[in-house]
Amino acid sequence: MARLTDTITVGEFSLKNRIFMAPLTRCRAGDGDVPVPINVEYYRQRASAGLIVTEATNISQMSCAFEHAPGIYSDAQVAGWKPVADAVHANDGRIFVQLWHCGRVGSSAILGGQDPIGPSAVNDDLGALQVYGLMANGVYAQIAATPSRAMTVDEIKSTIEEYRMGAANAINAGFDGVELHAANGYLIHQFLSPTMNIRDDSYGGSVENRGRFLRDILEALSGVIPMSRVGVRISPFAAYNNTRDPDPVETYSYVCRMLDEMGVVYTHIADTNAWPAEPDMDEILAIVRPNYSGIVIGNAGMTPQQAEQRVGSGDLDAVAFGRMFISNPDLPERIAQQGPYNDLRYVGFYGGTADGYTDYPFLDE
Ligand SMILES: Cc1cc2nc3c(=O)[nH]c(=O)nc-3n(C[C@H](O)[C@H](O)[C@H](O)COP(=O)(O)O)c2cc1C
Repeated sequence: MARLTDTITVGEFSLKNRIFMAPLTRCRAGDGDVPVPINVEYYRQRASAGLIVTEATNISQMSCAFEHAPGIYSDAQVAGWKPVADAVHANDGRIFVQLWHCGRVGSSAILGGQDPIGPSAVNDDLGALQVYGLMANGVYAQIAATPSRAMTVDEIKSTIEEYRMGAANAINAGFDGVELHAANGYLIHQFLSPTMNIRDDSYGGSVENRGRFLRDILEALSGVIPMSRVGVRISPFAAYNNTRDPDPVETYSYVCRMLDEMGVVYTHIADTNAWPAEPDMDEILAIVRPNYSGIVIGNAGMTPQQAEQRVGSGDLDAVAFGRMFISNPDLPERIAQQGPYNDLRYVGFYGGTADGYTDYPFLDE
């Protein structure tokens, strides 16, 4: 029976445990959305994770829904990420960067006056969209989303190219791989959803057409990075950012078969409704496992004991922890010795300083 502390092979990497760090937006990049030394320190502290998936990282300026989230589209950003990857490797860790485009989740206030772009101009729910900005008084706060417009086919193609460049830049920055963020109501998820995507061209309508954007991105990525270094995060039932899907079984059975055929190294299940304690993990596993034969990572709302059971039973190959990794930089060691765990402080989730970011104590402190 596998345990969380066991090693696991993911593509070409032998990872030291199955306790992964979930992607966590923390909004502390510097000017030009370039990673800065405090970001290096934060990831260095957490290098004992079997795998770190970085915070969601913008592939273009048009992606941004959280000001001061980092990017991976400029040379300065690539240079800023290098010391992060180096620090994790120097501590015997592995790190994938999560590639992000927020699509319709955005605001012209932080997009240089431009309208957010998405598969279709669905704008009946702007109040449900999570967009954050840094106020003039230094407070980091939720701001109003503004209406999006539908992408042209040329814009779809150029956005696919931005994902490809993001992956190429990830390799140059020294990352071990990339995770496509196809969850939580962002651009790829929007294309998959028949309520967010009401296009009548080859990118909308049937499940094959709604899946085409993801397929095209994976095909573009395969030109710059082997699929053994590409994972995909999905959240079939997520209510986050109001991305409705009346038939997640149909959509995600198709998506998982696609990921399997294309040889994507892992599928990362974000059981997003489990954050507020309404888990869908069993229903999601019933879709993923029969259709996908690669590594399955599970996340959300799990205690270490629950995670141990999921890995022990073979439901999941590894578990990603989010909030527990915010408050416990040495989470694998704490799990190995069954605690104790630091309490999570809600200060500084998004934006700010070392407070709530790099100041959580290690066991021996
Ligand atoms: C502060 C914060 C930032 C997050 N940022 C991201 C992100 O960048 N990308 C992503 O896919 N999920 C993100 N999530 C979701 C987490 O990856 C994870 O799904 C969530 O925290 C639930 O897992 P947990 O119960 O282990 O914390 C974020 C969650 C939190 C609390």
